Amino acid sequence: MIEVKNLKFAYNEQDIALRDVSFDVKDGEWVSIIGHNGSGKSTIAKLLTGLIAPTEGSILYDGVELNEKNVDEIRKRIGIVFQNPDNQFVGYNVKYDIAFGLENHQVPREEMIKLINEYTELVDMKDYLEREPESLSGGQKQRVAIAGILALNCDIVILDEATSMLDPEGVEEITKLISELKSKYNKTLITITHDLNLAMKSDRIIVLRQGKKISEGLPEEIFKQRDILLSSNLDMPFSQKAFYLASKDEELLNNKELMDALWEYHFNM
Ligand SMILES: Nc1ncnc2c1ncn2[C@@H]1O[C@H](COP(=O)(O)OP(=O)(O)O)[C@@H](O)[C@H]1O
Ligand SMILES: [Mg+2]
Repeated sequence: MIEVKNLKFAYNEQDIALRDVSFDVKDGEWVSIIGHNGSGKSTIAKLLTGLIAPTEGSILYDGVELNEKNVDEIRKRIGIVFQNPDNQFVGYNVKYDIAFGLENHQVPREEMIKLINEYTELVDMKDYLEREPESLSGGQKQRVAIAGILALNCDIVILDEATSMLDPEGVEEITKLISELKSKYNKTLITITHDLNLAMKSDRIIVLRQGKKISEGLPEEIFKQRDILLSSNLDMPFSQKAFYLASKDEELLNNKELMDALWEYHFNM
């Protein structure tokens, strides 16, 4: 279990990124963090992985506070996938990209080959072991990044806008894989995203605005708070936007049949 308690973080006197944010993430739970650019989402990811330390407040992993002494140990449990697939690909080809991470963890060579085969198969990239990054799509590179994390046996996976640079096909591939990380592999997941279609699939959503948590709840609860979503400038799924716009128009709003149809369409998507 991850407990985030009264987290505050200032990059400097002007740039206060987080102002008293608290939330929990249970083992095996999938939580999405959504919010406008600059609302503090990536700062939370950096704090969770111990890249920066809180100005105030604390982060606990299974009841133990993250500190300078245990940060290396705790970091081994966390895998993070970033926005830009190209910045994460360090190997000369798929095989060496995953091997690089394993080497850093002193995994013996034989074990390494086994892990590479196992996890590239899991993300459906086993036929691409010798392929260089230039010949892969963004979605394929992100799948390799996820395989690399899984091979290191991380139980917590943080994805910071991991689908935002992908084409629709890549978004679909990664969305499916993320869902499987939870359902089949029981990973604890934190997805930071602008993509409400992805957020909708998670167990719980946290909405940030200007460094504060302004809302938290089940996806269907959050999506009912349309004003919050709109004012946070998030990309609403088309059906949600249609519903929202219709609800602002008195004539359409009185058309119960239309409103029911839009609502149903949205939640049965
Ligand atoms: N390295 C940095 N130095 C100074 N200010 C920063 C730095 N990184 C982020 N910030 C500021 O902190 C706030 C939160 O940023 P960030 O956590 O990146 O937001 P998000 O990921 O939600 O877009 C923003 O106002 C941003 O300008
Ligand atoms: Mg960010």
